[in-house]
This record gives sequence, C-alpha cells and structure tokens, in this order.
Amino acid sequence: MPGPSPDELAAEGAAALADLFPPFVRVALVPVADRRCPWPEEEAAVARAVPSRRREFLSGRAAAHAALAAIGRDQGPVEVGPRRQPRWPAGVVGSIAHAGAWAGAVVAGSEHARGLGLDIEVLDPPLPDDVERAVAGPLVAEPTGHPLDAYATKVAFSVREAVFKCLFPFTEWLLEPTDVAVELDLREGRYRAVVSDRFRRAESVLPAIQEATIAGRFAVIAGHLLTGAWVQAGGASAGGPVPT
Ligand SMILES: CC(C)(COP(=O)(O)OP(=O)(O)OC[C@H]1O[C@@H](n2cnc3c(N)ncnc32)[C@H](O)[C@@H]1OP(=O)(O)O)[C@@H](O)C(=O)NCCC(=O)NCCS
Repeated sequence: MPGPSPDELAAEGAAALADLFPPFVRVALVPVADRRCPWPEEEAAVARAVPSRRREFLSGRAAAHAALAAIGRDQGPVEVGPRRQPRWPAGVVGSIAHAGAWAGAVVAGSEHARGLGLDIEVLDPPLPDDVERAVAGPLVAEPTGHPLDAYATKVAFSVREAVFKCLFPFTEWLLEPTDVAVELDLREGRYRAVVSDRFRRAESVLPAIQEATIAGRFAVIAGHLLTGAWVQAGGASAGGPVPT
C-alpha cells in the first residue's frame, strides 16, 4: 500500500503546528515544491535564485498566503524586508520557515499577538560537535529517557531561531546564542527561553519581554522539528503560561 502523499503528511504537520500556538494564530504547512506565484513582487525576489532556493521561498510564500487567507487578510504580495524579514500586511504579525520537505507560516492579527516566531528543522542528524560548539548557549535539559534527549542542542537551536524571529521586529538585533538561555522539557515538548540583560534593557523591547521569559512549545512530526514562539498582545506574559 502506498504511504501518505506529501500533501497528506503536510496536513498532519499542520495539525501539529496549530497545537503549538494559541487559537488566535493561524498556521499553514505545505510541501516544498515547484510553484507558480501570482505576485510579480515575490517572483522578482527569487528571479536570480537557484531552483532549490526558489522552491523554498515560493513554498514559504504559499504557506504565508494560506495562513493570511485564514484570517481574511490575504490581500497582496508578502514582500521581503531589508533584513530578509517578511513584510506582513499592516495589523498582522507572522513568521515563515522552511526545511526538508516542508515550508510553513504562522500569522495573527496584531490585536492578538505582538510577535510570532516559527522554526522548522530536519531532526536528523543531531548537530555535529563543531556546529554544536558554535551555536551553544545556556541550556538546561534534564535527561528524561525520551528519544529527543540526544537532540537537546538542536532543539535549543530551533528555540533560539523561533525566538529570534519573534523578537526581531522589536529590536532588529541579531541575537547571539548567549542572548537566550533555554530550558527544555523534552518529554512534554515545552521550553522556556530567558533573554539576556542586554536584550531586556533595550528601550524598544516590550514590558512583556522585559519580564524575560518566552514559554513555548515544539513537536517532532515526520522527521521535522517544529518550534513556535509568540508574544501575546496587551498581556504581561510572553508566550502564554510558563510550563511547570
Ligand atoms: C534569519 C534566520 C533565522 C533564518 O534561518 P534559516 O535557517 O535560514 O531558515 P528558516 O527556514 O528557519 O527561516 C527562513 C525565513 O525566516 C524569515 N526571516 C529571515 N530573516 C528574518 C528576520 N530578520 N526576522 C524575521 N524573519 C526572518 C524569512 O521569511 C525566511 O524565509 P524566506 O527568506 O524564504 O522568506 C537565520 O538565518 C539567522 O540569521 N538567524 C540569526 C541569528 C540568530 O539570532 N540566531 C539565534 C541565536 S543562535
């Protein structure tokens, strides 16, 4: 019997992705594939790119448009900002990621969220030692006997990428690995990310982030690690309830 199709697997991934975020966040996950794009501005952004880059960019945009349609805000191209960040319609926050077979996007109205971050990594192999040393920052991950124990550094890396994308609109800073201390619950798929003092003191950083903790979730599905980060609008806490 044939296995699930790429679209069926992506639908499974999308359901897992939705579970990482609160209900006001809309998500989309699509297979990375050759795609035609209705927006010349998006085509132009990858006009000179190699085919693999074109596929991942346009698949990420396809996911972005699907997620925007789900909140009734799919009105035009999602252009590329000066630091490579997606330019969302006014009143919308969001994030795009792609890796392996999948491209995904998450969006929300800014009345609900101040920032969103999504990261996707192919789970295998664990980070090689030299990469691990280069990206290592503060990390607490108690061994739990869970198969993910061997991937703690990769999960922490993914958390930092999601947190980076979530916080980038506030400071436009590149984070150093040491800017985000990560505490993982590998069994429950939960993390706490605590930003460094230099980051907290930045005037542009929200009071919610000055509180210093983003609590979020990650999941592994079909060999892909999906990690989400968000900062809620108006609330004192970033990323929802701190996991216990
Ligand atoms: C920007 C960055 C997060 C992209 O990661 P990546 O592994 O190349 O690819 P991902 O699939 O995870 O994400 C790519 C998407 O992120 C989005 N992105 C890129 N720059 C961004 C930014 N400054 N802010 C928010 N989103 C951004 C884009 O949509 C991009 O896809 P696109 O170019 O096709 O539109 C990463 O390259 C980077 O520079 N990180 C900064 C370093 C850092 O602070 N890391 C955390 C601490 S170690």
